[in-house]
Amino acid sequence: MASPPLLFFFFIVSATVIPFSRSVPFIVLHGIGDKCTNRGITQFTELLSNWSNSQGYCMEIGNGSWDSWTMPLMEQSSIVCEKVVKQISELSEGYNIVGLSQGNVIGRGVIEFCDGGPPVKNFVSLGGPHAGTASIPLCGSGWICILIDTLIKSEIYSNYVQEHLAPSGYLKIPTDIDDYLSGCRFLPKLNNEIVSERNSTYKERFSSLQNLVLIMFKEDTILIPKETAWFGYYPDGTFDSVLPPQETKLYTEDWIGLRTLDEAGKVKFVSVSGNHLAISRSDMKKYIAPYLIDNASTQLVTAGSLSHVSWFSSIWNNFLELAGITENRLLLQSMD
Ligand SMILES: *[C@@H]1O[C@H](CO)[C@@H](O)[C@H](O)[C@H]1NC(C)=O
Ligand SMILES: *[C@@H]1O[C@H](CO)[C@@H](O)[C@H](O)[C@H]1NC(C)=O
Ligand SMILES: *[C@@H]1O[C@H](CO)[C@@H](O)[C@H](O)[C@H]1NC(C)=O
Ligand SMILES: *[C@@H]1O[C@H](CO)[C@@H](O)[C@H](O)[C@H]1NC(C)=O
Repeated sequence: MASPPLLFFFFIVSATVIPFSRSVPFIVLHGIGDKCTNRGITQFTELLSNWSNSQGYCMEIGNGSWDSWTMPLMEQSSIVCEKVVKQISELSEGYNIVGLSQGNVIGRGVIEFCDGGPPVKNFVSLGGPHAGTASIPLCGSGWICILIDTLIKSEIYSNYVQEHLAPSGYLKIPTDIDDYLSGCRFLPKLNNEIVSERNSTYKERFSSLQNLVLIMFKEDTILIPKETAWFGYYPDGTFDSVLPPQETKLYTEDWIGLRTLDEAGKVKFVSVSGNHLAISRSDMKKYIAPYLIDNASTQLVTAGSLSHVSWFSSIWNNFLELAGITENRLLLQSMD
């Protein structure tokens, strides 16, 4: 039970946390097979926007579902870069990224490769195949899936597959590392894995994030292994065990700045219940929304002139939300 002084304190805190005015906008990068006009992703973006009082943009690449499957990830990243740099002026002072599944490697591509882009402040990643995935996402039995299956069975790291199947850009078969390093076009570059091609600019850019939130789903059956969402992965050559992020070379040798960020206390390793992307509203509130609220705006509030009515309704809404009135999970299209 909260004592009166504590309650009073809570009121003050609630009041000062109400975002004052302009806040940092965010972009959402959806997963494979999804598109910005789908209800799940629209709702996801809108909820975060409502809770954080920040403008959110679902960033579409080409025509959505189809292109998310077929367009090489390098190209997908440059399309987002182009939009971020040239088309959405609201982002020019800096922005946050929320990535879903495949959208996370695209987001990291934007952070690392986008020349002249505005600064990315916080990066919240839900179920990202950051260290690769050892299995193609299950697709189903439609004709496109049969086509994809055929492609995969031929040669994952061949030029043809690399150019026509987006997930082949982060498919990392631990027992086939040589072919992965020589044939995979996206992830080895993104992770600065190839010694002779390492680029310190990628590391510099990635390590300038203010916060990196890595959300792993405890019951994830799509990412193999699920720990890839935290940059954990199989050791080269075997499927027998999974290395925690801190024991991978990417971390110990600090190829992209993950270690730098972690040692500065800027990486949050979060694990939530649920299968791939099945996040609950309360977890969204706890682990995503706080990073979309501009901490600068909380300092401005003392100078503000919010009316008592809006104070009261905001506080009331905070209570309702804290009480977790709705617990339903969002139907985000995952990879199936
Ligand atoms: C977000 O807030 C607006 C305005 O209050 C409301 O109409 C809308 O339903 C909210 N969106 C969601 C997904 O709750
Ligand atoms: C999406 O765009 C690609 C070209 O990038 C095109 O080949 C494909 O037919 C389009 N699909 C749909 C459903 O419009
Ligand atoms: C490293 O990447 C940056 C940014 O894309 C690029 O400008 C630079 O030329 C690259 N350096 C090397 C050595 O490839
Ligand atoms: C916001 O927080 C980040 C760290 O989380 C910090 O680096 C930054 O300076 C803060 N910004 C302001 C305006 O306080």
